Amino acid sequence: MQTELCKKLGIDVPIFAFTHCRDVVVEVSKAGGIGILGAVGYSPKQLKEELDWIDDHIGDHIYGVDTAIPQKYEGQGETDPEKLVEMLQAAIPDQHRKFAEKLLSDHGVPSWPDGDDEVSLSFSEAQGQLLVDIALTRPKCRMIVNALGTPPATIIEQVHKSGRLIGALAGRLKHGAKHKEAGLDFIVCQGSEGGGHAGEVTSMILWPQMVDAVAPLPVLAAGGIASGRQMLAAMSMGVQGVWLGSMWLNSTEASAEPAQRQSYMDATSEDTVRSRSFTGKTARMLKNEWTEAWERDDTPDPLPMPLQGYLTFDATRRTHRYAGKGETQKVAFNPVGQVVGQINEIESCRDIMMRLLTEYSEALDQVTALNPE
Ligand SMILES: Cc1cc2nc3c(=O)[nH]c(=O)nc-3n(C[C@H](O)[C@H](O)[C@H](O)COP(=O)(O)O)c2cc1C
Repeated sequence: MQTELCKKLGIDVPIFAFTHCRDVVVEVSKAGGIGILGAVGYSPKQLKEELDWIDDHIGDHIYGVDTAIPQKYEGQGETDPEKLVEMLQAAIPDQHRKFAEKLLSDHGVPSWPDGDDEVSLSFSEAQGQLLVDIALTRPKCRMIVNALGTPPATIIEQVHKSGRLIGALAGRLKHGAKHKEAGLDFIVCQGSEGGGHAGEVTSMILWPQMVDAVAPLPVLAAGGIASGRQMLAAMSMGVQGVWLGSMWLNSTEASAEPAQRQSYMDATSEDTVRSRSFTGKTARMLKNEWTEAWERDDTPDPLPMPLQGYLTFDATRRTHRYAGKGETQKVAFNPVGQVVGQINEIESCRDIMMRLLTEYSEALDQVTALNPE
């Protein structure tokens, strides 16, 4: 089942797994696809540690690293990562800090323990560059992907010079066109139903338009794929692979507390919302009292990216660490797509991959059987 892009990368099946968990990266790559590690929440030191582990466990397989350098953000132009963080922290209004803290304490979310205060969030060019520099020292890292915009020209050139591929996510046709013009090697086209940052147009509408608009550039289909039937629908539109994010969140290898896993298994496809309440840009996540609280007229509006992310960094890490304490799930940050309604059990990454491929073949047989002789 190799597409041209698979052949270029040397992978067996066109399944691309976006994840923040190193174990998922390794398992998906070992099963014939490719794992891409989301690095936005790692400091350079932490990323080095994660990549050391991946390099030690992945054997001869390859992987990718994903950054999130937005097209536009507060503090743009500041090239010193430390100064940027200081400036952003100082710009967060006290009223917002108090509101966020009250939401957490009202729901019994314990404080973060003292002495573990590193804030690692890389929503800028200066910080993203540090992560790319580290990724490019790793021979098994064969692709860089950027979310939220076209990567800076300097990074595109740097990645190409190193002999690797570089792509970016796009939720709108005009973003795909910009990526193509900038010389990217592929586009990850994400429809509105996907988890994380997502636009307004659904996958079924967006994918075929993107394939046509950026041809012959390879497109990967993201947003709304959790079964082989959905994978077949995507492949039938001319994409060169599928890019899944939500499906790995409840895999055996993912690092998730039992209460968080339960939230995914309890949720239906109607329980997500696109909200600015955690990162400052519209992202799809489980709807809860936190997302609703930031929507009200009598509460502060979410700040622009990356200010809201710095404001909510503490909420994110506390609600993950203490997922089962008090009413944490009512205010937890659980980014996930509408496919959450299809996540009803814990499966290993290998089983997910095998299931996708088996269901794909069965669905293809069904469709083929409809053709007259
Ligand atoms: C928990 C979570 C976090 C995400 N964070 C990022 C990110 O940091 N960078 C990125 O390129 N995409 C991110 N995404 C989007 C995924 O790369 C992917 O496009 C999306 O999950 C596909 O839709 P699906 O959720 O229906 O599979 C995230 C998705 C999820 C579910």
